[in-house]
Amino acid sequence: MPFRTTVITGATSGIGKETALALAQKDHALYLLVRNTEKGEQLKKELVQQTGNRSIFVVHCDLADLQSVKDAADQLKGKLFAINTLINNAGGINAHRQESKDGIELTFAMNHVGHFLLTLSLMPLLEKGQARVINVSSEAHKMGKVLMLNDVQFKEYSAFGAYALAKLSNIWFAKSLAERFGPKGITAYALHPGVVKTGFGSELGGLGKVLMWLGKPFMITPQQGAQTSIYLASQVKISPKLNGQYFKKQQVAKTNLAAQNASARNKLWQISEQLIAPYL
Ligand SMILES: NC(=O)c1ccc[n+]([C@@H]2O[C@H](COP(=O)([O-])OP(=O)(O)OC[C@H]3O[C@@H](n4cnc5c(N)ncnc54)[C@H](OP(=O)(O)O)[C@@H]3O)[C@@H](O)[C@H]2O)c1
Repeated sequence: MPFRTTVITGATSGIGKETALALAQKDHALYLLVRNTEKGEQLKKELVQQTGNRSIFVVHCDLADLQSVKDAADQLKGKLFAINTLINNAGGINAHRQESKDGIELTFAMNHVGHFLLTLSLMPLLEKGQARVINVSSEAHKMGKVLMLNDVQFKEYSAFGAYALAKLSNIWFAKSLAERFGPKGITAYALHPGVVKTGFGSELGGLGKVLMWLGKPFMITPQQGAQTSIYLASQVKISPKLNGQYFKKQQVAKTNLAAQNASARNKLWQISEQLIAPYL
């Protein structure tokens, strides 16, 4: 594949870190969007040392702060002519209800809304690069329901419920991008990485933490968990018929019925647009 410019979120840990390493080895120019720049600079140092690739850059971006997302996108627009790959990988689950800087329920904000603003803000560069947008979702989306869109703020909070809606939103968003921007050369995918031994779940208290701990012996490594992201970012040709699809183990996989619901994904688009309106 020719030289590619790739932007990735959440590369300071777990699946994102392994994805960044593999793409640095494949000579992608990498823009690491991180909320902790110290961690980002340390990662950059490691990647340069391990791969010899010097085209690695750190950009501050807290996905739970829309001003920070806008600033990061503006910085990229000032530097780059085009982006070929955007990997919306950062995410997590929160034990208790919290709000982002913008007053949005935090799990929905960091997993979906921040990435929604980032992607739309970068769209001129993505179009120039005929880009692939890759959303790291989860099989947890299968616990998500269309009705959850009636309260994206999760006033009656459930950690697993909020996470399910956020990951279902990653799939709806990929499908909407394919529909709305496919004619302009954009392709978009969502994926499940597997059940991966990472920092994921470290915010969970009580039962959640016990469940994560019990599951650890059966989990795959971050390197294994990164394989579908790496595949989608580096496969030379992916059939145009697969635009908007959900992947698992480097193949198209089944979603729940809610993920196929066109009016739900349009509703999510409207809700997300309203939430980011001050920053577009
Ligand atoms: N692990 C699994 O079994 C599993 C299964 C299905 C899906 N996933 C998905 O895989 C993706 C990667 O997760 P992981 O397992 O690799 O977890 P992880 O090791 O906890 O990594 C999460 C990454 O997201 C970043 N991040 C979190 N909140 C952020 C924010 N507000 N702004 C910017 N960056 C933020 C973290 O940054 P810091 O380093 O600063 O904390 C870290 O780099 C997530 O979307 C997750 O939902 C994971």
